[in-house]
Amino acid sequence: MSSPKRRPLIAGNWKMNLSLAQSVELAKAIKDGTKNSPADVAVCVPFTAIPVVAEVLKGSQVRLGGQDLYWEAQGAYTGEISAGQLVDAGASTVIIGHSERRRLFNETDEAVQKKLKSALAAKLVPIVCVGETLDERQTQKTWRVLETQMVGALRGFKPEELGPVIIAYEPVWAIGTGQTATPTQAQEAHNFLRKQAGKIVGEAFSSSVRILYGGSVTAENVDTLMAQPDVDGALVGGASLKAPSFVRIANFQVPVRGA
Ligand code: PGA
Repeated sequence: MSSPKRRPLIAGNWKMNLSLAQSVELAKAIKDGTKNSPADVAVCVPFTAIPVVAEVLKGSQVRLGGQDLYWEAQGAYTGEISAGQLVDAGASTVIIGHSERRRLFNETDEAVQKKLKSALAAKLVPIVCVGETLDERQTQKTWRVLETQMVGALRGFKPEELGPVIIAYEPVWAIGTGQTATPTQAQEAHNFLRKQAGKIVGEAFSSSVRILYGGSVTAENVDTLMAQPDVDGALVGGASLKAPSFVRIANFQVPVRGA
């Protein structure tokens, strides 16, 4: 179980799914089903769904986020959405550097850092994703890749600026594949990332930063993942699209130590 200093967070990433009507229905069910969750709960929804989901979640414990942003405040950037626009639409958090954006839309570490800077300036809680591909894992490059992505995102900030930042460890080979990292693999990577956070930013950040696991998290495997000391929550894709599975994940149960 993660340190009591770090309140767990279970975040859903709806990706490019659901109509507005389905979004409203799912948000309602999540709001009702997570009232007594031991964690903070968030849903990161398509841009177009943010205002309607914001309406549903008003006054509730569930936070609302976007899945990306562009770092400029406004201007001639066809198709992009700024941090200020996300806030205006009702979001309070945002995913940055998801592997699908890195892989399919050529997002670089430099872009991730610019996005992080603009999210922080707009007071959005950034969820920064890092993770290695299967090839990188099989060729023993995991630690080098994670280090490069962490340095790329976090270098150059003052420690106090990074207070709100959340990290998500998302091994690319586990995303949408049904192949989850084992609890031991997740713990090992999270512990490595926490040490990196210490080296790059400092000790206070390292012990307080929440590190979520993402990659085929389900109602069936969440409890053992959440039992790991450096796993502070989950970023959930596929299983966040159905209320029963996401609600169960948000109400994860960790065995009491020593019991
Ligand atoms: P998944 O996606 O749970 O469907 O594997 C996780 C993510 O991409 O955030």
